[in-house]
Amino acid sequence: MRLKPPSPKGHFLLGHLPEFSADTLAFMLKMREYGDIVALRFGPFPAYVLNHPDVIHDVLVTNADKYHKSSVTKNVLEPVLGNGIFTSDGEFWRRQRKLVQPSFHTKRIGAYADIITSYAERILDTWQPGARLAVDDEMTHLTMRIISKTLFDAEVASDVDLIGEAISIVLKNTDDRFNQVPTIPYWVPNRINRQLRTNIAKLDTLIQRFIDERRTSGEDKGDLLSMLLAAQDDDGSVMTDKQVRDEALTLFGAGHETTAVALTWTWYLLSQHPEVEAKLHEELAQVLAGRTPTLDDLPGLKYTEMVIKESMRLYPPAWGTTREVIAETQLREYPLKKRDTVFINIYGMHRDERFFPDPLTFDPERFSPEREKSIPKHAYIPFGNGPRICVGNAFAMMEAKLVLATVAQRFRLTLAPGQMVEPQRMFTLRPKYGMDMIVHARDTYVPVETELAAAGD
Ligand code: HEM
Repeated sequence: MRLKPPSPKGHFLLGHLPEFSADTLAFMLKMREYGDIVALRFGPFPAYVLNHPDVIHDVLVTNADKYHKSSVTKNVLEPVLGNGIFTSDGEFWRRQRKLVQPSFHTKRIGAYADIITSYAERILDTWQPGARLAVDDEMTHLTMRIISKTLFDAEVASDVDLIGEAISIVLKNTDDRFNQVPTIPYWVPNRINRQLRTNIAKLDTLIQRFIDERRTSGEDKGDLLSMLLAAQDDDGSVMTDKQVRDEALTLFGAGHETTAVALTWTWYLLSQHPEVEAKLHEELAQVLAGRTPTLDDLPGLKYTEMVIKESMRLYPPAWGTTREVIAETQLREYPLKKRDTVFINIYGMHRDERFFPDPLTFDPERFSPEREKSIPKHAYIPFGNGPRICVGNAFAMMEAKLVLATVAQRFRLTLAPGQMVEPQRMFTLRPKYGMDMIVHARDTYVPVETELAAAGD
């Protein structure tokens, strides 16, 4: 008889789909009670949730060639991203990854540090002390402007606005499609798909214009688009316009909301942990003393990095990922069949007390040089792992550190009265009710406790 992993009780027809859809994050946490590998059924389709670093490592790294990106991911994302490196597989993916990866080499991306801080400062100039701000939106606007500039050198307001508006609608519609069970095919002319088509067409026209301008002028603007256009294969061949478009949109799509979400959760956590915030301020005072941070400051901003890492442990922007088996394989003692789906439970693993003692406590010291070594291997994977590890991870860490340092030098953010906070699984792990916060200028800020004490005198 075929060995099968433990499985929770499911609906006779729909299997585990109703419980999974009702509250995916709670479901993912609960799955850990059943074992390291848990068998599920979505309607007639078998799936497995993976809850242990070793089995996850097996899928993402050791036997990565036995798996492809899952059909659900592809069905939803391909209409937008085409055949870019997020959605493609096999030899095609390998070739494209080789062409794209050098653009993200540390030396190359260092050139973007000044863009990041100057855009962060521009946004801060619009913040008024005492104002209530939707910090999640502020972070999304900021990272969108940064990626528009670093990817396309786009600065013309009309272009940036068009990209911003179209990509927000595309991402919203893509989220809606992810939440449809089963996914409604892209060719069906329903409202979501019609909106999606219109906005993808706008983005395509704009990106094609950028490509045409570059090809005509031959100018190297030092942005990612110039690098994609110049990237050559071993045999000297370059990408077609369609492929450059797909990779550009892939980088655009994957490269801003994730970082915005990471920063949003970090502001929230700092607002709840004054002792961590104070230590962060101490580091900023020591390393920067009020200067705008630069690339050279990054190695000195160690605590800033520990804060971001710990924030992405508790609230991993990519809360999970999936793979589909392409040829019969084995996971521990269990045989997996072609087309079975596996869920990599990043959210569950990052909150598992077997790997992170006192897992719900926000403690950046877990990532201090001494203690980080004691985190079990492969238990912390906000950027994934193996050959498909996030191609933009160094860019994202640089961006998050520079933005956090630039903002935290000037402002503190406290949670707005009445703001409810709960993570929600969309394509990324978003705050379900948004994240309204109150802006306080650092130098004039009077802590709430003092104000209350003063009032009582
Ligand atoms: C905090 C920010 C970010 C997080 C948490 C994040 C997370 C991830 C994860 C978990 C994966 C692997 C998905 C899988 O294995 O199925 C991934 C892949 C990817 N990420 Fe990121 N990412 C971030 C920022 C970025 C940025 C800034 C860029 C580009 C500018 C980017 C571009 C990509 C691309 C292109 C892939 C697909 C790589 C491939 O399959 O070869 N990401 N990301």
